Amino acid sequence: MRTVLVGPPGAGKGTQANFIAKHFRIPQISTGDIFRANVTQETELGIAAKKYMDAGDLVPDEVTIAMVRDRLAEKDARNGFLLDGFPRTVRQAEALTEILEALATTLDAVLELAVDHEEVVRRLSGRRTCHGCGRNWHVEFDKPADKDVCDACGGELFRRDDDSPETVRHRLKVYADQTAPLVAHYERAGLLVRIDASGSVEEITERAIAALEAAGA
Ligand code: AP5
Repeated sequence: MRTVLVGPPGAGKGTQANFIAKHFRIPQISTGDIFRANVTQETELGIAAKKYMDAGDLVPDEVTIAMVRDRLAEKDARNGFLLDGFPRTVRQAEALTEILEALATTLDAVLELAVDHEEVVRRLSGRRTCHGCGRNWHVEFDKPADKDVCDACGGELFRRDDDSPETVRHRLKVYADQTAPLVAHYERAGLLVRIDASGSVEEITERAIAALEAAGA
């Protein structure tokens, strides 16, 4: 299955991508995670991306597209993948089509996680992320036993710099301006599958898997 997850910041893309990718046995490719790993390692890419990420802006298309092109050429993506957080602009969507054409393949489906604005703000304001394994927790909805320690790997939990209320507001505006038009783009292409992304994590995972299977992905 070759699929894309789309939805506003905090919709639960990372949370759901993990379960969906395991179910279909495909790699989860999150551009946000790749950028954050590069920021931590202080690579050239990380240094270039950091200022955009901290401001809640998108990293320039050409940088992001080159990174995804390289990642999709890796062996583990040959039989399928789940893209989380890419594409995010029409230019990126066009580039993805070109990358897949060069690999003689196409997308099977684009899954939209639809969730209201207030829920997104609630989810992001309480998110805590693990320095060790990258797993996301929530101070109210998905609490670890110790508020500062990851139950999965024992790593230290932190609040992402871009989860401050002001930056979240800006990220939501960037989503509305630059990424939301993609939904119509993929709807026209007959690839869009929309699910209600409110409710428990488990309920949403079931809906997502059922919707992708029904779409023949
Ligand atoms: P990225 O990391 O992709 O951020 P995002 O799209 O803003 O999405 P988030 O990671 O904030 O949220 P999510 O939808 O994954 O939600 P999560 O599962 O964590 O990108 C970060 C930055 O990198 C961008 O701003 C940009 O600068 C750059 N970037 C990345 N991709 C790019 C691209 N293609 N082009 C250019 N720049 C790019 O869930 C959120 C919280 O809610 C968690 O605490 C979780 O535990 C909780 N939660 C999840 N589901 C539920 C539920 N059902 N009920 C209650 N709580 C829940």
